[in-house]
Amino acid sequence: MEDLVSVLDFEKRAFETLPRTVLDYYRSGAGKQETLRENRKSFNKFKLRPRCLRNVEERDLSTVVLGEKVSMPIGIAPTAMQKMAHTQGECANARAAESLGTIFTLSTLSTSSIEEVAKAAPNAVKWYQLYIYKDRNVTRDLVSRAERAGFKALVLTVDAPVFGLRLADLKNKFSLPDHLSLANFRGIKATGIRNSGVGSGLNNYVNGLFDSTITWDDVKWLRSITSLPIVLKGIMTAEDALLAVEAGVAAVQVSNHGARQIDGTAASIEALSEIVQAVGGKVEVYVDGGITDGVDVLKALALGAKMAFVGRAALWGLVCGGREGVEKVLGILKNELSTAMAIAGFSRVGDLERNLVVHEGYYSK
Ligand code: FNR
Repeated sequence: MEDLVSVLDFEKRAFETLPRTVLDYYRSGAGKQETLRENRKSFNKFKLRPRCLRNVEERDLSTVVLGEKVSMPIGIAPTAMQKMAHTQGECANARAAESLGTIFTLSTLSTSSIEEVAKAAPNAVKWYQLYIYKDRNVTRDLVSRAERAGFKALVLTVDAPVFGLRLADLKNKFSLPDHLSLANFRGIKATGIRNSGVGSGLNNYVNGLFDSTITWDDVKWLRSITSLPIVLKGIMTAEDALLAVEAGVAAVQVSNHGARQIDGTAASIEALSEIVQAVGGKVEVYVDGGITDGVDVLKALALGAKMAFVGRAALWGLVCGGREGVEKVLGILKNELSTAMAIAGFSRVGDLERNLVVHEGYYSK
């Protein structure tokens, strides 16, 4: 991995390494993939206004998220089925988050169980991502297992009433390789994602088991069965952000699911400002989508995100080097953020200001 010095280097290596069906599953967006491209490109629509001569020798990247101190404002977003990337899958990813002192979010559709991840990375700040199953007992059981295992928050994904149409997965008739299983469901429900000969096995699984009738009442229901803070992941509008505040959640994660749900939304970084403004500090706001370097993170923080999360970047780290690979990816992002902060004139994450970034139109005025 010595020659890999950026997230894009890791991505390139992972593209050369992974079998085609897995690579397509990890990299794809929905539909024509316009939003997938936008998620990345849109960071460049924001320009920095760096300040100078401000003594930036000592830098502090730490922050407090839902009451937990983390070493940097960069965490790992939930991504499904990580043992396709590396034999140790989610456990390796969580251990990397643990050694960097940041947050690991475990997907419901993981190939390592809640308990296995808790054991592998006891000191990581772990969050558990939820989909709501038609059979509410399944969800209730996942929630209590996450609580018992010491997870610190529940991340309810609200942008997936049904799963997006990822064309490559449909063509490849995506399925989880036979030697892997959805580890949280052993003895409870089907643990495979098998294709039945038609389309993507994942879409077939989700359509059969996930509840597409969920509404804001189900957020209330979730609140009623847990004392953990709830993060709503997949908020893209001020309207829904306000409803989230009303519903009593602790945080919202601005996200278009890595462009995997509906093609044609704005990049999540573009949607961030209206949501930050709408919630007016009443709940924490995070963002994910298209982050490939520390400058992207700096822009997200200046626009008001408390935390930026990466999905694919961590997967590419896993593919290239398991736990060490993810550690290296996180370390690269941290160093890039620290360097960018210094050159932009800031020593502490908490001091970052909104007017550090402007939308590109600003300079043509
Ligand atoms: C995801 N994402 C996701 N989100 C979620 O809430 N539950 C999940 O199981 C998954 N699974 C998943 C698999 C893969 C392969 C990807 C790429 C993404 C979305 C994820 O949490 C996050 O929103 C995006 O990955 C962020 O975009 P980047 O960093 O991948 O560009």
